[in-house]
Order: sequence, then C-alpha cells, then structure tokens
Amino acid sequence: MKLLAILASGSGSNAEKIMEYFQDSDKATIALVGSNKPEAFVLERAKKFDVPTFTFSRKEMDAGLLLEKLQQEKIDWVILAGFLLKIPVELTRAFPDRMVNIHPALLPKYGGKGMYGSHVHEAVKAAGDKETGITIHLVNENYDEGRIVFQASTPLSDSDTPESIAEKVHALEHKHFPEVIASLL
Ligand code: GRF
Repeated sequence: MKLLAILASGSGSNAEKIMEYFQDSDKATIALVGSNKPEAFVLERAKKFDVPTFTFSRKEMDAGLLLEKLQQEKIDWVILAGFLLKIPVELTRAFPDRMVNIHPALLPKYGGKGMYGSHVHEAVKAAGDKETGITIHLVNENYDEGRIVFQASTPLSDSDTPESIAEKVHALEHKHFPEVIASLL
C-alpha cells in the first residue's frame, strides 16, 4: 500500500476527487492532507473522509517541519493540488520523481511566477487562445519544469470568460488527476 499526502492551499476540489478515488483502493491511501492555510476548505473536505490533517506556516515549512512530518508518516508520494507555496529544495530532493503537481494550463504556456489560479485563465482569455487544458507534471527544483506526464485540452470560444475557462479546466482536472496519479504509483 502506497501512502500519499496531498498538499493544498485552498478549496481542495481536486483533493476531494483524489480522496474519493482512493477511498476503497488496495493500491494507495491518502494518509495526510497538509495545508499552509488553517482556514482552507480542503481541511473540511479531509475530515469528511477521515483523513488526518496537518497545517504549517511558510516559515515552518522552510525550517523543515513539513519534511519531518512526511517522513514520520512514511509518505511515499506527495500530491500538490492547488498548493501555492514554493516547495523547499530539501523537500523535492526527498521525493525524487515522487512529487506531482497539476497546473491549470497547457505548459510550457502560462507557467512560472504569478501564473496560478485565476491569473492563468485571465491570461488565456486575454491572449484569445482557441484552447486551454491541464498539465500534470513531476516537480523538480524549478517548479513548473518537471517532466510532463499528462496533458488534456478543451476548446475555447470567443464567448468564454475567465470563469467559464476555469470551470472547463476544473472539469478536466477532476476527470483525469486521480487516474493519472494511480497510473504513476
Ligand atoms: C486547480 O485549478 C489546480 O490546477 C491549481 O489550483 C487549482 C486548485 O483547485 N494548481 P481546487 O482547490 O482543487 O479546487
């Protein structure tokens, strides 16, 4: 049985889909949900699934507290599902090819600093792109540059707004992220 930790800073709709997917799995279990935001809704979602939670500040994470916790809990894989802090290099090194992130666009487009959440969808709209999508990638020391393991796209029309783009992207994320994680384990 592989032990997975999910890190998230916000709502956690992806985290919920992942917890749902692995609920009865004999392959993997979600052993921990971690967040840097004590008020993040993802923590409520974790409670619903009886998954233990862990909160920490950026300072504590940078000082090694999160890594310590992940090692203590014998976590095999770290899943980033809307986690907004930059991961310390010690942490990426501790999980070589065992840390995965989801990005709400077709990398290498719309990646890098400042490209998160609604900023991504606003940039896609401003550029007038005819499609957008999701990218699931391994995390290395340069955040959005780890090996891409999966991409899926969705067409856009002129009438799409940043909000409707976000909805389309979320639908793709919910559909694919759990299965892609399962295929990586
Ligand atoms: C997702 O769009 C994901 O791609 C991005 O952050 C968002 C998190 O959404 N990294 P949610 O909290 O899972 O609803």
